[in-house]
Amino acid sequence: MSNTRKVVLEVRDINKAFGAVQANKEISFEVFDGEILGVIGPNGCGKTTLFNCILGQLKPDTGSVKLHNKDITGWLPANLAKAGLGRTFQLLQVFDSMTVTENLLTAGQAHIGTIFTRLFKPPHLGLMSKVNQVIAAFRLGHLANEEAGSLSYGQQKLLDIAMGLMSDPEIVFLDEPAGGVNLSMLADVKERIVELNQAGTTFAIIEHNMEFIFEVAHRILVMAEGQVLMVGTAEEVRNNPKVIEAYLGQ
Ligand SMILES: Nc1ncnc2c1ncn2[C@@H]1O[C@H](COP(=O)(O)OP(=O)(O)OP(=O)(O)O)[C@@H](O)[C@H]1O
Ligand SMILES: [Mg+2]
Repeated sequence: MSNTRKVVLEVRDINKAFGAVQANKEISFEVFDGEILGVIGPNGCGKTTLFNCILGQLKPDTGSVKLHNKDITGWLPANLAKAGLGRTFQLLQVFDSMTVTENLLTAGQAHIGTIFTRLFKPPHLGLMSKVNQVIAAFRLGHLANEEAGSLSYGQQKLLDIAMGLMSDPEIVFLDEPAGGVNLSMLADVKERIVELNQAGTTFAIIEHNMEFIFEVAHRILVMAEGQVLMVGTAEEVRNNPKVIEAYLGQ
């Protein structure tokens, strides 16, 4: 991780309610350039809601999100993607009947050009080299022409993350990349994330698998009941009795 601590993303005082449920309460934090920030917390504590407020799927009731000091609060997901925010969802977003290559092309097309260039230019113009680069980075070469539906769940998770990288994002938000992935594929997912991070990609990662997130994250933000309980190193999180309390109380 870089020592300069340049802030990529700054989140201030996000509030989001669903009726009587206050899913996010006064959430503030920043993500530093080059880091992997883990986001943990008991089921239903508001992690996905927070990502959705940042990434335009939801509009926060109050608060702001800044990317390199530029206010991006409430922007549409497509514009946020163009601005450099990549994401994966808690549930897989791959297209089963398309090949790995076709899935990556589709993810790439969503981020380039205008509706007119997408309609009137060959779909893969300029994108194939990026697809090949991503396929190589994710070690998916042997599966390039396989239909996504025929891949193992872990391979589909890798493809899903790879699709999130097609837009060359500056910061990537992953919602439970380890969820449901078996042990051997988990090592692959971990290695790919660490490699991409070492090559300069910044990550914010929601995860329930503690071993996984404690190993990959430089800092961890702990949420409980819609609030930020603490932000610290794996060591600091492990030693904070409030964190154990939050999990036991769920
Ligand atoms: N669209 C919605 N409409 C109403 N309530 C919602 C909606 N989305 C989330 N909630 C509620 O907001 C709270 C936070 O949910 P959220 O999905 O953000 O939690 P989470 O931390 O991601 O949980 P998990 O670890 O189980 O994925 C929960 O009480 C949930 O039921
Ligand atoms: Mg969630």
